[in-house]
Amino acid sequence: MKERDILVALGIAAGLILVTGTLILVLGFRPIGAGGPAGPGPGQMMRGPFQPSEFSSNGQRIYYTATSRSGEPIAFTGGPPWLYMHGGSCVDCHGPDGRGGYLVPMTSQMAPDIRYSTLTSERHEEGEEMEHPPYTKALTRRAITRGLDPAGQPLDPAMPRWRMSEGDIDDLVDYLKTLDGRASSDK
Ligand code: HEC
Repeated sequence: MKERDILVALGIAAGLILVTGTLILVLGFRPIGAGGPAGPGPGQMMRGPFQPSEFSSNGQRIYYTATSRSGEPIAFTGGPPWLYMHGGSCVDCHGPDGRGGYLVPMTSQMAPDIRYSTLTSERHEEGEEMEHPPYTKALTRRAITRGLDPAGQPLDPAMPRWRMSEGDIDDLVDYLKTLDGRASSDK
């Protein structure tokens, strides 16, 4: 019957729309690999695959997201312009293992190794222009918040100066300690 055929066709069409709609809802419209609705920014190119789904500590969350416990973004000065546009945190420049070695996008600066053991050890690298004494806990905090190296010399402006609460900076420095001795492939 003609009428029945039409009904069947309508049924199939409705089913298809339902399935497609559900798929779109579940999978989302985001093309695979995009960092977000606006597409990946330079700082997010590294972030996506590194971001754990849950953070095991406040310090780790700050390292990855630069947000404090309340969810407020942590204010900063300095740093490259993309950090203001796209957001980002330590991980975007120093990497998930803290070893740095990446060129900070849109700057000529290489992000250094900031594992606590590296910061606090004596440096004997040949040809390093600016020798400075090892960091201590207090000097590490000062580097992060005021951008000064142990000798009191300002770090390059590519390193942002972060305005953190005492609790947050303590948690963050504790997190840098957990990066010690980690294999570079570890999260
Ligand atoms: C936009 C990139 C960027 C981000 C984001 C960033 N840093 Fe840095 N950081 C740098 C660069 C570049 C330097 C090296 C500056 C220099 O050598 O003068 C640096 C230096 C440092 C140093 C001093 C290391 C040394 O050897 O003297 C510490 C400590 C540090 N960063 C910690 C952090 C922490 C913790 C965060 C997150 C809260 C962070 N950084 C976020 C780029 C960044």
